[in-house]
Amino acid sequence: MAYRDLREYVTTLEKHGKLKRVTKEVDKDWEIAAVCRQLFKKIPPQKRPALVFENVKGFKIPVVAGVLGASREIYALGLQTETVEGINRKWDHALGHPIEPRMVSAKDAPCKENILHGKDVDITKLPVPTWTVGEDPAPFFTSPYLITKDPETGVRNVGTYRMEVKGPNKTGLLIGKRQDMAWHMYKNNAQNKPTPVAVVIGADPTIGYVSVSKMSDALDEFAVAGALRGAPVDLVACETVPLEVPATAEIVLEGEIPPNASEHEGPFGEYTGYMGPAGNEPFFNIKCMTYRNKPLYQAFISQMPPSESSCIRGIGREWPLFKHLKDVLRIPIKDLRLKEAGGSGAYLVISLKKEFVGQVRQLMYGAWSQRTGFGKITVVVDDDIDVWDDFAVDWALSWHVRPDKDVYIERDVQAVGLDPSQAPADVLQHHPSRYVGSRVAIDATRKHKYPAISLPPKEHLDLVASRWKEYGIED
Ligand SMILES: Cc1cc2nc3c(=O)[nH]c(=O)nc-3n(C[C@H](O)[C@H](O)[C@H](O)COP(=O)(O)O)c2cc1C
Repeated sequence: MAYRDLREYVTTLEKHGKLKRVTKEVDKDWEIAAVCRQLFKKIPPQKRPALVFENVKGFKIPVVAGVLGASREIYALGLQTETVEGINRKWDHALGHPIEPRMVSAKDAPCKENILHGKDVDITKLPVPTWTVGEDPAPFFTSPYLITKDPETGVRNVGTYRMEVKGPNKTGLLIGKRQDMAWHMYKNNAQNKPTPVAVVIGADPTIGYVSVSKMSDALDEFAVAGALRGAPVDLVACETVPLEVPATAEIVLEGEIPPNASEHEGPFGEYTGYMGPAGNEPFFNIKCMTYRNKPLYQAFISQMPPSESSCIRGIGREWPLFKHLKDVLRIPIKDLRLKEAGGSGAYLVISLKKEFVGQVRQLMYGAWSQRTGFGKITVVVDDDIDVWDDFAVDWALSWHVRPDKDVYIERDVQAVGLDPSQAPADVLQHHPSRYVGSRVAIDATRKHKYPAISLPPKEHLDLVASRWKEYGIED
């Protein structure tokens, strides 16, 4: 059965030993960020739990963190697949078999249990953490799901974009120029009309997974979430904007982005592991807030990778890229990995069952064309190299590469604006120098017949492994 809401999912994580409740009082303005960072430093992914901070100093609302992706194992539970491998199968099926959402009335929508309008709205009463203390100018929402509609087609979008707390009913926003929601704003701006927005904080996990993943803008992301959960998402009409939100959401903010207006926003500790630049960005005026009784506030753990952010973005990107290369371009790749050190974007490793000289070039252009931001560093290895084994990839890079022949640099191509190598820290977010960069592909496949590998024969290794205890080396 699909999770009804975030709280049912939190209970399930706890039953699986994947969630810890922190009852000690914590300060949201420095301590939550430090605890979350130590969680990633101290505990390996297989054992790492998500957290509920139950006692946030000065607030009645608990903070939930890491519940969508403190590890791939947690992500698998969020998608209700038994295994990490099952995640891709779920996504594949969901994208091809969307389930339309279903409207329910306000009386059947727990998110309407409390409704505040106008001056009664005060987001400073929410326990929004400060993440990079001493650098971020304010607390930031890191797991908002922003809902907008294309003013021409009416197709809905759900996306996660950081929101800086700017006052009781105002936030800043950073929406990448090519994001789906940016197109909705451009179209409204052209008509000098505001963009209506509903922001969901805390919902059934599938809503979060679609919110941070790229998919065709012709798809209603709630329909994909429905397919991921195996049941329609129940939606309810907003109070003040012509939009719909999940009926079991914890907290909903409704309002508008004024047309063609911007203000100073940021900087913010980013997924690259560095502070992202500040800039002039649109802002969000909140008109109404609805919330459940005893709401949960949800945050994504982001900033320096590895993080919840790099985990969930990596999974949401690897599978579509794999499908694009294998099924659309029909290149015989075996596996690929967007490494978390590169924020699950900059550093791409692909294994290929190479059929002919030149196929690596076809592959690198194929990967670079799917999303301009992926694979600033792209490494291609043979299909006997496991892309998840860092040592094996380093071994291939060391002995299968002749730098004068196997390194391809592509200059003057679109770059990622948040890449700190593009421009000094004081250059604003949307300055042109941030958007023209370069990429490199390293062909670490074998180009000629190689000598035999210097390992004992496989049958000897297998025999010794089967008798391992007899040697008395390990208990
Ligand atoms: C924690 C987190 C924070 C994010 N913050 C932003 C952001 O501030 N601006 C942005 O453009 N994308 C941000 N993203 C990436 C988008 O959520 C992602 O590209 C998503 O696909 C956007 O939705 P869309 O595809 O519907 O445009 C963030 C992702 C995560 C996981």
